[in-house]
Amino acid sequence: MKLLSPIEIGNLEIKNRVIMSPMTCNFAKDGFITEQMIDFYKERAKGGVGIVIVEDGIVDVPLGNNAKNPVAIDDDKYIPMLKKLSSAIKKYGAKAAIQLSHAGRRAGRVTLENGYLEVTRGQIPVAPSMIAHPFPGQVTPREVREEEIEEIIEKFSQASRRAVEAGFDIISIHCAHMYLCGEFLSPWANKRQDKYGGSLENRMRFVLEVIEKVKSIVGINYPLIARMNGQEPEGGNSLLEIREIARRLQLAGIKAISVSVGFGAVLYEKNFIPAEAPIGTPEGCIVNLAENIKRGVTIPVAVGNKVRHPEFAESILQRNQADIITLGRPLITDPYWVQKVAEGRYQDIRPCVSCCYGCVGNVLKGTPITCILNPLVGKEGKKEFKCAPVNKKDEKKVLVIGGGPAGLQAAISTATRGHKVTLWERERELGGTIILAKKPPRKQELHEIIDYFKNRIDQLNIQVELGKEANEKMIKNFKADVVILALGGNSIKPDIEGIKENKHVYWALDLLRDDYTDIGQKIVIIGGGEVGLETAEWLAERGKTVTVIELLPEVARDMVHAVKFPLVISLNDYGVRILTNTRVKEIKFDSVIIERNGIEKVIEADSIVVAVGVKAENELESRLKDVVPKLFCVGDCKKPGNILDAVHEGFKIGLQI
Ligand SMILES: Cc1cc2nc3c(=O)[nH]c(=O)nc-3n(C[C@H](O)[C@H](O)[C@H](O)COP(=O)(O)OP(=O)(O)OC[C@H]3O[C@@H](n4cnc5c(N)ncnc54)[C@H](O)[C@@H]3O)c2cc1C
Ligand SMILES: Cc1cc2nc3c(=O)[nH]c(=O)nc-3n(C[C@H](O)[C@H](O)[C@H](O)COP(=O)(O)O)c2cc1C
Ligand code: SF4
Repeated sequence: MKLLSPIEIGNLEIKNRVIMSPMTCNFAKDGFITEQMIDFYKERAKGGVGIVIVEDGIVDVPLGNNAKNPVAIDDDKYIPMLKKLSSAIKKYGAKAAIQLSHAGRRAGRVTLENGYLEVTRGQIPVAPSMIAHPFPGQVTPREVREEEIEEIIEKFSQASRRAVEAGFDIISIHCAHMYLCGEFLSPWANKRQDKYGGSLENRMRFVLEVIEKVKSIVGINYPLIARMNGQEPEGGNSLLEIREIARRLQLAGIKAISVSVGFGAVLYEKNFIPAEAPIGTPEGCIVNLAENIKRGVTIPVAVGNKVRHPEFAESILQRNQADIITLGRPLITDPYWVQKVAEGRYQDIRPCVSCCYGCVGNVLKGTPITCILNPLVGKEGKKEFKCAPVNKKDEKKVLVIGGGPAGLQAAISTATRGHKVTLWERERELGGTIILAKKPPRKQELHEIIDYFKNRIDQLNIQVELGKEANEKMIKNFKADVVILALGGNSIKPDIEGIKENKHVYWALDLLRDDYTDIGQKIVIIGGGEVGLETAEWLAERGKTVTVIELLPEVARDMVHAVKFPLVISLNDYGVRILTNTRVKEIKFDSVIIERNGIEKVIEADSIVVAVGVKAENELESRLKDVVPKLFCVGDCKKPGNILDAVHEGFKIGLQI
């Protein structure tokens, strides 16, 4: 397999062609690498990747910060912990790399309500020109002066010295995502009229000077990677210019190019792929951009962004579209991706479904990353989170009721520990609400979660009984030592006049489950949360005329931007009408009466779909409390949440038995 064959970057041999992309994890503390971080990266190195690229090391804190609490490399005091990290990575045969980064104008994010620039700790960010990054909350930066440019270049070079002293084998220079280097390169952000702006030659000057200075410190043979965007928005570099930039980077001494895309703001633009392509984006969505760059260089070109399946990764290499595959999120979900590929265990890979929820979502919130399907992220070094087998005498008979993510994960964790597990599910298939969640357009990838769980259930010999609806008597008769209720939630039925009397009112869950076809043409959806919007898209795709009514000023407030914007754009394209700050007062047989800004209006409707959430309604729990030896309740039937809550809680239950 080409994927597992060695490759050289400069003179350095890499054991295979899978490298871990840099990902800011928010595990750092006051700029220092933490033990938690070392354990996180060590696990990925152990899992077999050729190179681990450690997330952005900021060369100039706080002006160059990419997050509230990034890894710092602007002072020698950080070297000892960086060294500990690189040693931990190298112990497993992976090469250790670190990305050197300055966020430029992207550091200027207002994250607090009082307008404080939390990322730069109150300072106005610097950029080639005084143009704000076009993302809500970004401030106008200050144009960096020529003498400051020299200082920043010096900071890059001092950071490279520290990286080498700390034992890193490779340095990646962050020229992508419209951070400072990318801003200088792009006419989209760089409007300077001095020697650093204007022609391509001038726009490249800053990056080339950085490379020259870094080389003077690390030596000409030390392997440098440049990460760059393969695509820029209107007004930015063309594909030909991007290819030319790559060619000149090679001439300057760069030994490999890592192709990426995106920079937040473009999420607003149609057909522009973000840095972390969301669920629904085709696999290998930027491979063509790598191909473009490959035409300009002879050094290895790496590509990723939704390359998730080994067969697909291999096909990219076989077709010579790229030389190396970068994996980011798939390694958060499954650190052992490469090892499983090497062992031919493709079906055992825990799939990243590109939901962005636990990873990107948490980074944006300023909290440490996690993963909806991997509860061990950030806990790799913690013994208490290992599913250690129990002694034979402690083995228990466990009954899990409900085959959604909470029940499936609880069953898997419990069986992994050696207990004898039986799972009852009232439907004829496993998956719970995920079966409905994967129905709307662009959500199909969620089926991989079900496939993964099913495979684990088989491997662990968990006895599954489908079409079996549990009741109190059946549970008592089963005589389990432990019963885990994972029954899911029930739709909330709001108290709206006419809701009970009118037969053309449907709950979103029932509608998705039963695929009603006779609901008419004009549909009003009550509730503009994620489920309401996705149901709207599902109906619009079927040619329905849809209006969404939302009480709050904004729809789907909790959705991660990367996933929300493509959905909102698609709804817009379908002509779905979204009314925020609007209350449904009454449902009539052919319409709904709404109130907006104190004014009442009538909206015609053949059917009404209610999507205002689920509630935990769990009669079985109270009935079983005193009749089974040990009872747990988990997932939506305990507290409505999402797949992350269901899986993480299910996992924890397994540890407690
Ligand atoms: C349209 C839609 C889209 C969604 N999209 C997302 C998303 O993108 N990301 C995300 O994180 N979350 C999403 N969610 C939410 C997510 O699906 C749920 O939070 C999650 O499935 C809850 O898991 P659970 O195991 O607790 O319950 P469920 O998944 O609801 O599973 C409960 C299971 O228990 C079974 N059951 C109930 N009673 C009995 C009984 N007496 N005997 C036997 N079996 C029984 C049910 O048949 C069901 O299979 C979405 C939800 C919906 C409706
Ligand atoms: C949580 C998270 C943080 C990221 N931080 C960085 C970063 O610091 N620097 C960078 O160049 N890319 C960063 N990225 C982008 C990834 O390196 C990668 O390009 C992207 O996730 C797409 O690849 P994937 O589909 O394999 O995840 C980040 C991605 C994620 C998910
Ligand atoms: S949270 Fe979602 S996107 Fe992020 S790593 Fe996990 S599965 Fe992938």
